[in-house]
Amino acid sequence: MKQDMIVILDLGSTENTTIARQIRDLGVYSEIHPHDITPLELNELQNVKGIILNGGENRVVDGIPVDVDPALYECGYPMLAISHPTAKCGKAIEELPELAVLKEFVFTDCKAQANWNMKNFIADQVERIQEQVGDKKVLLALSGGVDSSVVAAMLIKAIGQQLVCVHVNHGLMRKDESESVVQVFKNQLHANLIYVDAAERFLGKLEGIGDPEQKRKIIGGEFIRVFEEEARKLEGIDFLGQGTIYPDIIESGTKTAKMVKSHHNVGGLPEDLEFELVEPLKQLFKDEVRACGIELGLPESMVYRQPFPGPGLGVRCLGAITRERLEAVRESDAILRQEFEKAGLNKKVWQYFTVVPDFKSVGVKNNARCFDYMVIIRAINTVDAMSATIEKIDWNVLQTITERILAEVEHVNRVCYDMSPKPPATIEFE
Ligand code: XMP
Repeated sequence: MKQDMIVILDLGSTENTTIARQIRDLGVYSEIHPHDITPLELNELQNVKGIILNGGENRVVDGIPVDVDPALYECGYPMLAISHPTAKCGKAIEELPELAVLKEFVFTDCKAQANWNMKNFIADQVERIQEQVGDKKVLLALSGGVDSSVVAAMLIKAIGQQLVCVHVNHGLMRKDESESVVQVFKNQLHANLIYVDAAERFLGKLEGIGDPEQKRKIIGGEFIRVFEEEARKLEGIDFLGQGTIYPDIIESGTKTAKMVKSHHNVGGLPEDLEFELVEPLKQLFKDEVRACGIELGLPESMVYRQPFPGPGLGVRCLGAITRERLEAVRESDAILRQEFEKAGLNKKVWQYFTVVPDFKSVGVKNNARCFDYMVIIRAINTVDAMSATIEKIDWNVLQTITERILAEVEHVNRVCYDMSPKPPATIEFE
């Protein structure tokens, strides 16, 4: 362990992550752990310099207030208790600490060094991965999303060819996206990468299915089946790499916080495939994951990629998917992304994409009547994806995008702009 650590014990506060962020912003590494951690487990974390007992509104679980193992008080760590009336330790405060209080605790009481940075974090994780994995093999589903890409780069650095990456192209990826996964990981980082072109299989399963939830279920279920088939073909795999990040763990529920939604990274594979998990990013926030990716040498386009739903363009090709309309979504999305980049909007707008509904309208092309589809542009800004506002795009940029879509994308005779905020709309349009 290259860096000092302040441990936050979750005693039912909803502010654990806020405090962890504040401590990391002071340059000191901080991890959040459940309230019932044992002294032994705490020792195994290495370099723990102090403990924050963070109580809060969820402190009472099933009628009983949660508390820490009393043996922790005897371990000799400096402690700071927040909203924790029964704490038997020196410092106790009622409210979230002000920065000055936190600073004093971290640097004066705990004598922690401000040595938390990505280089040290990566060096630590590489060591931990090597220790955990030994000479065994790790399997990783590499979607090309930020989290799985960063995990792959980290695992390649730690164990090289002992990592087997599987990239399933479900045929619903954006233009050139699967190609760039192969280019970066196979050609540049020399990963042991299995590329599975399952486009036909997915499109076959989705044929005639118009209900958005059913489409999602089919894509998710089929994805696991394809991955599982590949996993069964391989021999001697003991570990499964996962791009779990800290917010995934929070959303999937902790010992004091209820589940918000089950996350696709936590759980999902059948139980008879018995793998031990390797999750080197599970303590990182999203912006830290990106910084880690850059430090590991991944291209900016991969690391700063906008959010993209697991079921991909499948949800943006409304109703039952047809090849014609899927191509129209893919091509119009590529044009939108190019033009947003040219206009510098890619750094300003949180998420932007196109949608193609499953009905046609009358138009006129080459002096003749045509009956074709429409492309809807959606561009939103948000902080946490729970609510969103639409971006007011410059009229000239919209006009250029519209002209290009109408000229370059087949079977389209109309372009519209979605003005709806979330709520009542969702960010995706499905
Ligand atoms: P909604 O449409 O619910 O979307 O307002 C909120 C955010 O979540 C993204 N999204 C997904 N991300 N897997 C993901 O990893 C999914 O299945 C999925 N569905 C929606 C969406 O793009 C938006 O950023």
